[in-house]
Amino acid sequence: MPKVVSMINWKGGVGKTTMTLHLAAGLATRHNKRVLLIDLDAQCNLSFLAIGASSYITHAYNNNGSTLKNVFDNYFAHAPTTAASIILQRQVRARAGKIYTQVGIILSHQELTLLDMKLAREKRSGRDHREETKFEIEKLSVIKAIIDEVANDYDYVLLDCPPNVNLVTQNAFFASDYYVVPAIPDFLSTVGISLIKKYMDQFNLDYTSMWSYAGLPGSYVNTKFGGIVFNMVDEYGGGPKEGHRQMIQSTINQQGANAVFANYVTDGDGISAAAQMNLPVFAYSDLPRAHQNAMKQAEYMGKVVDEFVTRII
Ligand SMILES: Nc1ncnc2c1ncn2[C@@H]1O[C@H](COP(=O)(O)OP(=O)(O)OP(=O)(O)O)[C@@H](O)[C@H]1O
Ligand SMILES: [Mg+2]
Repeated sequence: MPKVVSMINWKGGVGKTTMTLHLAAGLATRHNKRVLLIDLDAQCNLSFLAIGASSYITHAYNNNGSTLKNVFDNYFAHAPTTAASIILQRQVRARAGKIYTQVGIILSHQELTLLDMKLAREKRSGRDHREETKFEIEKLSVIKAIIDEVANDYDYVLLDCPPNVNLVTQNAFFASDYYVVPAIPDFLSTVGISLIKKYMDQFNLDYTSMWSYAGLPGSYVNTKFGGIVFNMVDEYGGGPKEGHRQMIQSTINQQGANAVFANYVTDGDGISAAAQMNLPVFAYSDLPRAHQNAMKQAEYMGKVVDEFVTRII
């Protein structure tokens, strides 16, 4: 069974997508793991980054290839989806002309926003309230059903969530064993974390009672908090600069010592230089600029990946 992990923070631009891609890359190369990426964000950033923007356009628009949109379209049409028909294997870019053989991806689609609204309106009427609860659970299980189908093929499934808590995100949460919160060391990003945890606790309670009320076999397994990873940290003298150190420390004070990853990723132009070429920063030697910084960020990112393996068990 794979470990299923949602990358969640409804503050935008904190590095959810960047972390998701680099975790997949690091798990594959440093730990020899098989990883499935799922892009749930209608902005499609992970899809672009992972396979390259032009390949994405060719696939999704010119060739009308499969994306996550088809999974939800099929749900509305009461038609089955086979995981094999929507997973792109051996297409995630590792460096110029090279791919990760052990990483697969389910691409997103910009119309996912519309689908989300449709999903919110969708109400199947059942014989009684119990059956209707069962339908509500089915609505939350669209992504879980796909993951269950390929459970033997992957060691990790990483879900890149959009910065909101709509039904597609709830689908991710429902399918996950853990959620990990990428954050930046600024005031707004850190105050939001308590709220995220509160929401997630509530989802766990809701899903648990819905599951038992619907009379489904077994029980709902809570999605556990996997930790906060700080990103875009500025360093000074070998550690986070004072303002960032304080932000990280106050998060530890609020959330507990074990809540925050000991490793973090520094701010720098290596990651964006790599992103411009639709590559992970691990491909630093292929970059036309920002080598030095990219090497450093690759090293820090690698340590985050190694810590992730010890936390997500
Ligand atoms: N450590 C870093 N140093 C410098 N730039 C970074 C770093 N991490 C991410 N970035 C850049 O910051 C931007 C936002 O990152 P990313 O897209 O991963 O955030 P996000 O949380 O997924 O955003 P959204 O909420 O819009 O989905 C991107 O342009 C990315 O290349
Ligand atoms: Mg993103």
